[in-house]
Amino acid sequence: MTIETTDHSLTQRAEWKALEAHFESMSETTLRDLFAADSSRGETLSADGAELFFDYSKNRLTSETIGMLIDLAEACGLRERTERMFTGDKINTTENRAVLHTALRSPKGAVIEVDGVNVVPHVHEVLDRMSAFSDRIRSGDWTGHTGKRIKNVVNIGIGGSDLGPVMAYEALKPFSDRSMTFRFVSNVDGNDFAEKTRDLCPEETLFIISSKTFTTLETMTNARTARDWSLAGLGGDDAAVAKHFVAVSTNAKGVGAFGIDTANMFGFWDWVGGRYSMDSAIGLSTMLAIGPDHFREMLAGFHEMDEHFRTTPYERNLPALLGLVGLWNRNFLGCDTVAVLPYDNELCRFSAYLQQLEMESNGKHATLGGDRVGWDTCPVIWGEPGTNGQHAFYQMIHQGTKPVPCDFICFCQPANPIGDHQDKLVSNVFAQAEALAFGKTEAEVSSEGVAEDLLPHKEFDGNRPTNVVMTQRLDPMTLGRLVALYEHKVFTQGTIWGINSFDQWGVELGKVLAKKIIPELTQDETVTTHDSSTNQLINRYRAHRLS
Ligand code: F6P
Repeated sequence: MTIETTDHSLTQRAEWKALEAHFESMSETTLRDLFAADSSRGETLSADGAELFFDYSKNRLTSETIGMLIDLAEACGLRERTERMFTGDKINTTENRAVLHTALRSPKGAVIEVDGVNVVPHVHEVLDRMSAFSDRIRSGDWTGHTGKRIKNVVNIGIGGSDLGPVMAYEALKPFSDRSMTFRFVSNVDGNDFAEKTRDLCPEETLFIISSKTFTTLETMTNARTARDWSLAGLGGDDAAVAKHFVAVSTNAKGVGAFGIDTANMFGFWDWVGGRYSMDSAIGLSTMLAIGPDHFREMLAGFHEMDEHFRTTPYERNLPALLGLVGLWNRNFLGCDTVAVLPYDNELCRFSAYLQQLEMESNGKHATLGGDRVGWDTCPVIWGEPGTNGQHAFYQMIHQGTKPVPCDFICFCQPANPIGDHQDKLVSNVFAQAEALAFGKTEAEVSSEGVAEDLLPHKEFDGNRPTNVVMTQRLDPMTLGRLVALYEHKVFTQGTIWGINSFDQWGVELGKVLAKKIIPELTQDETVTTHDSSTNQLINRYRAHRLS
């Protein structure tokens, strides 16, 4: 069945039409004009919340625009849907599930019910088990099969069972136990496993098999390879598995069938989406790296942002504002991509993490009602840490043909204070945002004595939208706040776009086809069952593969 009806209800709303008219009326107004007209624009169009400072003044909008966007959010029921999410309503309608990642960071005494059961005690029970296990590994009390201390932890998982853990590990490295080694194997490409384990000793290595479903092709393949690698290095005794493998999953049956004792399993629940799970047991590698106390600080940061989002008026509500400004840039300015540019090397995996969070959540063409959306949804999310990106792709951001809204993220204090590195780093954030907003006219370039024929090459249009998120330093609490900021941004946009941000049916078709193709790659007969292109590719591979 194909989607036959296109839904135009969002674009027909009075609030949407008002925004369209408003955009028309200001489409020629530039950021230069807006800043010249209002000397306190920087202060007006910025907000503080959950210890983060958010300056969105260098976007092509006014306070009036924000008010109109808030009207749209209200008309689309953002406030009510937020309450439904926080209180365990089954808002993931295509999977008939509650959406309760916020329960993962609720304080012990809270009551949040799903099907009449308070989930909070279960969350804390798992957290306590994770803490006890982490303490045993970190203290050396838990030893491997041959009695040696566990020094290496390898997380095997993919998507939400990898991107959050690896991002958090990189981000919080300064808080980690440096006597331990952490590795993350995700790709079914054998090179990933080989390279990540080549210098590790099986006697000192613990594998965490992280998979919500415990059926994912990549993870199960890597898990079996890990078991072979481990047993080969431990004398082939199956009993060794109990000391070197733990599982994080919602699928106890699958874990048991793999051969991991469910006593060594840390569970979570179907109401935690994979890409919303880094603060569940999926964060076990994070806890092993930074310790239970720091992990709980990270949860506290998440919770602080949850409360901020749930209770703060939208005029000062950071996730709502980030979502609304993004929606303005996407649906009214027509921007197709957003660059997330953290000026902190330790956030090197943050953009990759956000790619799944945003694009798997909101990269959808069907409305909740099953019609085709009559408006654009998620833009492409991409990015790299600054200042490296400046020497690679910023050329296009400054002088390319379409604006690329940017989120700059920076910190006042570095984890490693060395000389004047931090001042040089952060000065670039301010400079880039300023250059993108105001550019440099041909007249300004000319006044510097530049030759006429070079003027078009050296002028900068400016008028390019950016946000800046700034806070004190990158620590566990801050990371929790930052991730929750983007989680609720995604929720804000998904609610207005009228889509289900919590399923991911779009990943299924390719998986099913790959399963069909796997045996064809080793069959004797020429493959003829696909289209001529796919047949050709498969048969060429068959002819050249190592057998
Ligand atoms: O392929 C998409 C996906 O289902 C993601 O949503 C998920 O995070 C990832 O695969 C891994 O799934 P699992 O944790 O079940 O192995």
